[in-house]
Parts: sequence; structure tokens; C-alpha cells
Amino acid sequence: MSTAREIHILNTPAELFRAAAEQFAALAKAAIEARGRFSVALSGGSTPRSLYALLASGSIPAVPWDKIYFFFGDERDVPPDDPESNFRMASEALLSKAPIPPGNIFRVHTEIKDAPAAALEYEQTTRAFFGLKPGEFPRFDLIFLGMGPDGHTASLFPDTAGLRETKRLVIANWVEKFHSYRISLTLPVLNHAAYVMFLVSGPDKAATIRQVLEAGPADFPSAQVHPSDGRLIWLLDSAAAAGLSGKN
Ligand code: 6PG
Repeated sequence: MSTAREIHILNTPAELFRAAAEQFAALAKAAIEARGRFSVALSGGSTPRSLYALLASGSIPAVPWDKIYFFFGDERDVPPDDPESNFRMASEALLSKAPIPPGNIFRVHTEIKDAPAAALEYEQTTRAFFGLKPGEFPRFDLIFLGMGPDGHTASLFPDTAGLRETKRLVIANWVEKFHSYRISLTLPVLNHAAYVMFLVSGPDKAATIRQVLEAGPADFPSAQVHPSDGRLIWLLDSAAAAGLSGKN
């Protein structure tokens, strides 16, 4: 059963991050009450840094950090202390600031300097955490995603092999324009989540948001994310939503 897509437009980036933080807290509370833990995959890039800082600030409803388990939707093929590392960004903004047990943080071990091997290891870690049998996919309680101006999400870029992956959970996706690998969760994993939240801010995304959410084409990577049995929420600020007709 695929549920409808929800689009929420907030006036400012600050309101966008607060809405996302409050939703995170509500989802975490519900999952922990129901199943004793909350699994979340963090997105990278620059947009979510403010959200992660807000989560660490203590100004949102308190969450039991010791029952929250952090994964990454994708990672650059750089060491974890590299300025480009998504782990480093999330660690600086949240993971090293909130009382999160180190054993609750699952980062991609890019220091092994072999992206396919790092992807395979991360897939095995994910399988173990979720207790998966062969052929099963994990059901993250929440996956945060961003979107690039080219419509990519996680590290699933247009015209890359990673978009066609249907069996693996985690892949090393070669991205020609960066002449490098990116490690990424695959579309089947994104589409098995209980809750996917896109967080998109800024005028540079407006044209692509209009195409992904209204005008098409449907083959933008971000347009291929629609959980088969979960909720899909697009949280946009007014600048990113400027091109929408409002008829969604
Ligand atoms: C990454 C992200 C990527 C990101 C988009 C948007 O590793 O870069 O996971 O998918 O969400 O590129 O990035 P910005 O938020 O920096 O615009």
C-alpha cells in the first residue's frame, strides 16, 4: 500500500528546521514507545546541519537518545575527519553534542579506502542491526533525505548505475561528474522505510522541486522515492517551493 505524498511549505529555513526537529522527536517517541528503539538514517550535504544543531540544542521535545540508532543515507569516499565527510558534519552538529552512546552510531568506514568494500561492510552492519534474512530489506523508522539541483538524493545521481540497483542495500556508486565513488543506500531501502522526510531549502532548488513534484519527468532520482508502505513528506521552505503551483 503506497500512501500519498505530503508537501509542507514553511516560510523560512528556521521554521523548516523546527518543523523537521519536532517531527523527528514525535516519530522517535512513538517508535520507542512501540518497539523500544528508533532507527534513523541521516542525510548529508549542507542543508541538514542546522537541523542537527537544533536537535542537539535541547530546544525541542526531549528524546531518549540512548534508544535512537543513527545510520547514514550516504557518504562521500573520504576519511571520516575530512571536511567533505557527512559523518564529520553530523558529528560536529549533533552526534558529538547530544548524549548518544557511541554504539548507537553506525558510520561508513571509508578509512578502508576501498569504496565497494566499505559499502559491503555497511550493508552487513545494516543487515545485522535489523536481523535481516537474505533478500530482506531494512525498514528504517525514518530516513532524512536532501535533494540536489540535479534531482539526486542520497548519492543516487541521474544516469548512475546505483539507480538501477534492486538487490543490494548499500552500494558504491561511481559518480562521473565527481570522478569518485559515493556510498549510498539504494532505492529499495529508501522505499522500504516507514517514513521518508525530504528537507529542501533555498531558491537554487525551486526549478527542480517543481519538476520533481509537479512537472516531471518522473525519472529524477528524488521522484523515484515513494515508500511502498510508509509515509513520504516533503518539507520545503518558501524559496524552494517558489515554483510550485500549489495544486499538490
Ligand atoms: C550528500 C547528500 C546529498 C544532499 C544533496 C543536497 O552527500 O551531499 O546526502 O544527497 O542531500 O546533495 O545537498 P545540500 O543540502 O548541500 O544542498
